[in-house]
Amino acid sequence: MGLLSITCLNSPLLVLLWVSSLVVIETEDQQAFKVQPRNITVRAGALLVLRCEVLRPSGTVQWVKNGLILGPQRSLPGYPRYHMVGDHERGQYHLQIKDAQLEDDGPYECQVGQSESSRAIVSHTVWINVQSEQNHWRSSGGGGVWVMLL
Ligand SMILES: *[C@@H]1O[C@H](CO)[C@@H](O)[C@H](O)[C@H]1NC(C)=O
Repeated sequence: MGLLSITCLNSPLLVLLWVSSLVVIETEDQQAFKVQPRNITVRAGALLVLRCEVLRPSGTVQWVKNGLILGPQRSLPGYPRYHMVGDHERGQYHLQIKDAQLEDDGPYECQVGQSESSRAIVSHTVWINVQSEQNHWRSSGGGGVWVMLL
C-alpha cells in the first residue's frame, strides 16, 4: 500500500512519512530494560536477588550463567535453589538464589529473546561473588586470634 501511493504521487514528503511511521512502529513495541542487574557480593548461605525488569516484554526472558541458558520457567529445572521471581505483569524476572554457594560465582546476564514485534536484548554482564565463611572472617579483620577462637 505504502509503496503504491509513493510511486503514484512521487512525493518525497510521502516517502518520509512512510519511513518515519515504520520507525515509530518499531520503537513502540521494542522491548527494553527498565531495571538491569548489578554486581553483588554475598556470604555463603545468603539469599540473593539479581534484578531484571523488562518494558513491553514480548520475547522469552531467560537468565544466562557463564554462557549457559538457565531456561524460561519461573522454577528453573536442574537449579533447585534458583527461581525467577517478581510480578510477571510488570515484566519482572528477577533471579533469586537461595543458600548461595561458591558454585554460584560467575557472570550472569538477563536475556530477552526476539519476537515478531521486537528484537532481542541482553543486559550488562554482572558478577556474583560468594564469600566463604573463612574469607568473610578474614576480610572483616578478625585477625588470627578470632580465627583460632572459632
Ligand atoms: C562487575 O564486576 C566485574 C568483574 O569483577 C567488573 O569487571 C565490572 O566492572 C563490574 N561492574 C560494575 C558496574 O561495577
